[in-house]
Amino acid sequence: MKIISIINQKGGVGKTTTVINLASALTQQGKKILVIDLDPQGNATTGLGLSNSEKSDETIYGILNGTKSISEVIKKTKFDNLDLITSNVDLSGLEVETAGDSDRAFILKVKLASYFNDSGAIYDYILIDCPPSLSLLTVMALVCSNSLLVPLQTEFFALEGLTQLMKTIDRIKINLNPGLEIQGILLTMYDRRNKLSSQVEQEARNYFKEKVYQTVIPRNVRLSEAPSHGVPVLIYDKNCPGSKSYYSFTDEFINQENQIGSAA
Ligand SMILES: Nc1ncnc2c1ncn2[C@@H]1O[C@H](COP(=O)(O)OP(=O)(O)O)[C@@H](O)[C@H]1O
Ligand SMILES: [Mg+2]
Repeated sequence: MKIISIINQKGGVGKTTTVINLASALTQQGKKILVIDLDPQGNATTGLGLSNSEKSDETIYGILNGTKSISEVIKKTKFDNLDLITSNVDLSGLEVETAGDSDRAFILKVKLASYFNDSGAIYDYILIDCPPSLSLLTVMALVCSNSLLVPLQTEFFALEGLTQLMKTIDRIKINLNPGLEIQGILLTMYDRRNKLSSQVEQEARNYFKEKVYQTVIPRNVRLSEAPSHGVPVLIYDKNCPGSKSYYSFTDEFINQENQIGSAA
């Protein structure tokens, strides 16, 4: 079982879209997936067809504030092999509420470990949809993750925040989670008619080398329509350019995983 955080402190770069569609494509390849929505906006929750307005203790918030166990909160989605821990706006209070707890960065890790020990439940992957910040919630996610995946929007300021993100990751590796690895960088919202997209792509590839996936996700209106129907774009319109790109990215992801597996 591998835990992967989808992270970028900028909002609107394609984190949630990547979580939903990677999860969906992996289930279509027979993998069993748990998505944890760790963003108070609850976009992964609604994007997978569940409600982000329900009682707060039946969400990730209930787990993190200690009122609920994971087994009480995991929900099935309408998609086979795809389970979800939902989120809602109450999660935004957690940072303040846990301010006195010196071990709070480890809460999620401890809860997950004890749940999987006790229940014997198994997933191939747990994908954590992070909020657009480098706050406590993101740190919690990185502390319990094996690796992280960064969606990078191919626009002018895209690379600007990356130095700060990499510093945070280094600090977490040194102090909290030495095994944390960078799974990869996924270029999103690519516009072939825009020279800027290819410039950002070049810069990202020069800097992060083979960590940048060959697949780039194009800007595609179908990707932005799908969430309002509560389904992954792969189900909404499996032949649109956005779907094709997420299938191709998932193939690359699985090849990468197989290589890691055979090298181990
Ligand atoms: N490749 C894309 N093309 C067009 N729209 C996209 C694409 N990826 C995401 N979107 C839309 O852009 C918005 C932000 O994407 P989202 O995945 O929610 O970003 P984040 O989780 O990083 O805030 C959403 O409305 C989403 O539907
Ligand atoms: Mg999001």
